[in-house]
Amino acid sequence: MIYENAKLIKKTKLKENVFSIILSCKGIEKKATPGQFANILIEGFTLRRPFSICEIEKNQISIVFNVKGKGTKKMASWQEGKNVNIIAPLGKGFAPLKKKEKILLVGGGIGLAPLLCLCKKEHNITTLAGFNSRKDIILKKEFEKFGDFLVCTKDGSLGEKGLVTDYVKKYVEKYGITRIASCGPNPMLEKVLKIAKEEKIFCEISLEERMACGIGACLCCQHILNENSNKKIVHVCKDGPVFKFSP
Ligand SMILES: Cc1cc2nc3c(=O)[nH]c(=O)nc-3n(C[C@H](O)[C@H](O)[C@H](O)COP(=O)(O)OP(=O)(O)OC[C@H]3O[C@@H](n4cnc5c(N)ncnc54)[C@H](O)[C@@H]3O)c2cc1C
Ligand code: FES
Repeated sequence: MIYENAKLIKKTKLKENVFSIILSCKGIEKKATPGQFANILIEGFTLRRPFSICEIEKNQISIVFNVKGKGTKKMASWQEGKNVNIIAPLGKGFAPLKKKEKILLVGGGIGLAPLLCLCKKEHNITTLAGFNSRKDIILKKEFEKFGDFLVCTKDGSLGEKGLVTDYVKKYVEKYGITRIASCGPNPMLEKVLKIAKEEKIFCEISLEERMACGIGACLCCQHILNENSNKKIVHVCKDGPVFKFSP
């Protein structure tokens, strides 16, 4: 659905070059599910920019974004009260959580944001978050409301030293994990998926590809998925961004 005038209700600077924005979108809570995304029009650019929905509330969604290039730099300059043109919700999200599942959320950097949407108090949630350094940590307080928040940093400045993928197996065993949901850079996701397959755990990954239309029309977001020994061509905006793998 197009929201031509989604009002920017609140903008928060979380870190240098990382912002959270809340947009007012009437009735969106009835349509959006965790893991779906919004395609946002930025003045001066023809192509919309895709962003995962971080939180869904009544009549509003939040998005957390990194300033990466010209479009996100412009977004960072937006002021509260601005009307934003967005198409949302788009794509396929995560499957609903079941009460008995023990879920491990594995997030790399800004990839942590869409996983927050999955968190509900009644579920058993552990989060494993990887950042380059302690100065990059985001959303700690938000995730801690739902369970253990385990951190690792590339430079070892906080938590365990290394990449999240170095610790997935350890925490799968420690917490008796039965399901994994992950978002971050694609090479990280490939490793998470490999571990999930070895451990025979249901796993969902939220992939990123460069997008244009966001609705399956231009075919520019093609991705080759390795399903067991078969290669499958998918379009991330329409078939994903969340892809499911059963053991
Ligand atoms: C499904 C999905 C969800 C995403 N969720 C988030 C999020 O929650 N937070 C966040 O910070 N970023 C997210 N991204 C990445 C975000 O879309 C890019 O960082 C953003 O488009 C960069 O725009 P730019 O104009 O600043 O950069 P530029 O590099 O100037 O953009 C040039 C073009 O490349 C495209 N592009 C550049 N990087 C990416 C990328 N990584 N993925 C897709 N297209 C890209 C832009 O859309 C634009 O068309 C997501 C991407 C996808 C596909
Ligand atoms: S972005 Fe156009 S088909 Fe996916």
